[in-house]
Amino acid sequence: MASFNLTVLPGDGIGPEVTNEGIKVLKAVGEKFGHNFNLKYDLIGGIAIDETGEALTKDCLKLCKKSDAVLLGAVGGPKWDDPQASVRPEDGLLALRKGMGLFANLRPVKVFPMLVDSTNLKPDVIMGVDLIFVRELTGGLYFGRPKKRWRTSRGRRAVDSMVYSEQEIERIVRVGFELARTRRKHLISVDKANVLESSRLWRQVAIEVSEDYPDVELEHMLVDACSMRLIQNPTYLDVLVTENTFGDILTDEASMLAGSMGMLPSASLAGVPQDGVKIPGMYEPIHGSAPRRAGLDMANPCALILSAAMMLRYSLGLPEEAKSIEQAVDRVLEEGYRTYDIVAEGQKKVGTRQMGDLIAARV
Ligand code: IPM
Ligand code: MN
Repeated sequence: MASFNLTVLPGDGIGPEVTNEGIKVLKAVGEKFGHNFNLKYDLIGGIAIDETGEALTKDCLKLCKKSDAVLLGAVGGPKWDDPQASVRPEDGLLALRKGMGLFANLRPVKVFPMLVDSTNLKPDVIMGVDLIFVRELTGGLYFGRPKKRWRTSRGRRAVDSMVYSEQEIERIVRVGFELARTRRKHLISVDKANVLESSRLWRQVAIEVSEDYPDVELEHMLVDACSMRLIQNPTYLDVLVTENTFGDILTDEASMLAGSMGMLPSASLAGVPQDGVKIPGMYEPIHGSAPRRAGLDMANPCALILSAAMMLRYSLGLPEEAKSIEQAVDRVLEEGYRTYDIVAEGQKKVGTRQMGDLIAARV
């Protein structure tokens, strides 16, 4: 019987509710395939600030680094939103990314055919969308130095720095190429090379790395053009790799193709995914903590459940088990069950817990 150590960080708002459903589904996977998941719970985000004064304690980071993978719900809420506050829930997330070395953020966006009418875009534009963003997660504007605010005789000034080393670019671009190899063999590297020096280095390194991947076609796209292409012709896109801030913005835009953020998982990895290699990683839904929905048994647990599937695939080396979860989600949607965010006429509206039960039963 294979045994895996997982750290579970439910976090704030709807985080704990959707996490419960993810654990329920993992237990079903464990029973079906004979695996044992050892769970250790800890705090992150607002609840961690309330109980420890820090958004992520050193002990929690240590626990995360020791485990095979980390499953996270969501962080943040109005209670901790004071702009003057010295510590914010989001700091916990950034510290976890940096502390675990999670440089590669995978954000797949797949349009479920049965949900094609629950988006704002025309069905014929989004039908068949199946793309994946590879966002650099530990560099660029988020972490570059100098990063500060100061006073001058002519008023206040502030600076953030978009800094990249060639090593940082190389490893993230490799993630893009490796994924492209397993898909349509088309990698789009997104930059702003017509203006930014860091983007010119990015583009050059991408071209150099492409020599190791003659089977993959590399295309460069400017970030402004990419934001347009995402809603104009999204089925053209397959694997996209980009720096931290561009990736943050483009993936929110891309999430709207799928109708609800409640359906979109993500993985943050500390290595390049390759067949048969287990990579330390953290897995979380794309959506936030949705404080107004918290405690109402309303939230859509699918994004978290699909994040758990990504965890099985990339960190635990269990691709069959991952598929069993993804197929279970497909089946439940095909049978017409919907949480409030994706419900339409004639369908069966269910709450968070019932959605989790239905999926677990179909694993
Ligand atoms: C995301 C979020 C985070 C980010 C915030 C919460 C720090 O928007 O994961 O995309 O900007 O990376
Ligand atoms: Mn974001």
